[in-house]
Amino acid sequence: MKSSSLQKRLGLGLTLGMTLLWLGATVGAWLVVQHELNEAFDSALEETAQRILPLAVLEISNREESREAQHIATLKVHKEYLTYLVRDAKGEILMQSHDANPKIFNKQLREGFSTTEKYRLYAASALRGTLFIEIAEPLGHRREAAREALFALLLPLLALIPISLLGTWLFVRISLRSVLAYRRAVEARGAGDLSPIKVARLPAEIDPLADAVNHLLERLRKALEAERSFTANSAHELRTPLAATLAQIQRLHHEAPEGSLRLRAAKIENSLRDLARLSEKLMQLAKAEGGGLLAEAPQDLIPLLAHVVDEWNHSNGHRIGLQLPDEASVYSAIDPDAFGILVRNLIENALKYGAVNQPVEVSITGQALLRVVNGGPVVPESVLQQLTERFVRGRSEVSGSGLGLAIAKTIVQGVGATMTLVSPATGREEGFEVRVQFCADTKNER
Ligand SMILES: Nc1ncnc2c1ncn2[C@@H]1O[C@H](COP(=O)(O)OP(=O)(O)OP(=O)(O)O)[C@@H](O)[C@H]1O
Ligand SMILES: [Mg+2]
Repeated sequence: MKSSSLQKRLGLGLTLGMTLLWLGATVGAWLVVQHELNEAFDSALEETAQRILPLAVLEISNREESREAQHIATLKVHKEYLTYLVRDAKGEILMQSHDANPKIFNKQLREGFSTTEKYRLYAASALRGTLFIEIAEPLGHRREAAREALFALLLPLLALIPISLLGTWLFVRISLRSVLAYRRAVEARGAGDLSPIKVARLPAEIDPLADAVNHLLERLRKALEAERSFTANSAHELRTPLAATLAQIQRLHHEAPEGSLRLRAAKIENSLRDLARLSEKLMQLAKAEGGGLLAEAPQDLIPLLAHVVDEWNHSNGHRIGLQLPDEASVYSAIDPDAFGILVRNLIENALKYGAVNQPVEVSITGQALLRVVNGGPVVPESVLQQLTERFVRGRSEVSGSGLGLAIAKTIVQGVGATMTLVSPATGREEGFEVRVQFCADTKNER
């Protein structure tokens, strides 16, 4: 399952929460505002009716023909906001404001407030219920006021949503800066670096985690060290007794009479040699895993390589060709001993498994690419992948422990270089090629 981002979750969660709370508060405030508005409008309506009524009573009682409806003349033609009717107990209209539409008023005469679809009405009576005034106010006005209040309450939300999203995003990002630094510190660790990770001021929630990681690293380092020193020590301790036994067996081999005893002695001698080689390889592997593969100052690889190739040529009758670049020197920060172990293992393999009638070619380029090429049958891709594992060997009659390429891989990884096995060798139909690309040091360019 893909892990979700804290930044995203907090940003969305907080914004959603804030929006919901804001909406809740808006609805509450709106209801209160609406109620208060209605109260204010109603009171104004009532007040107006109460003011008009005595005037109407006076006017109607002063009339000669009182039973005739009268439109109130206006001083100026205008559109009325409030309209009213004055009626008697039977519902006859005695007086009306000039814009009044009798259809909108209640048929039944009843005192107090009432609401129709479009109007808010208020009725009051005078002269013991013989005169009724009813006043009407269109509801549109109130609705508009309520709508505007709602809009004013909702408008800030439009700005708040993006501000909240951006704010949380930024805030979480700033708060998690030390965690990101911690992640980078962990990622930057090479395979060989198991020292505690130090990052200044982690959040209190993450700090115990960092402590736990450091404890784990410490335990891992101790366990690995114990394993390495055990391998190195046992290999070292085996050396002397193995050499002594080998010497004894060699003597026995020479002194034994021709026959089965001599053959058996020869077999034991071979086994002992294999054992000595295995213990030598184990020591090399322990050294390669022990770190310390990087030299303090960049090393010139050319003389180192030339030296190893010379050594082999002296003991092997010149089967190794060496190709050097035009550059006078190729620098890389690898420990000279580790470089020696690496090249020796590669050349040993090339001589052991390469076609006997073909030379082994060793070359290095100015860009610090080391190649060791030999002839021989093609090794299939599926097998190639596994050859660098420990104790894995190809199909071969020659004896070996299967550690050479594992040692080479460990050294190469320890110095941050890359190793590729290629078969058939580049530009050929057959053969086997090992390419090691070192990180060329800038000293090269000087
Ligand atoms: N240059 C090469 N040409 C062909 N095959 C090779 C070459 N180098 C390695 N191999 C194959 O890879 C296998 C593993 O090599 P590696 O060096 O790891 O072990 P080894 O040579 O068998 O034993 P060791 O090196 O520990 O004595 C070999 O058994 C061989 O089959
Ligand atoms: Mg080998």
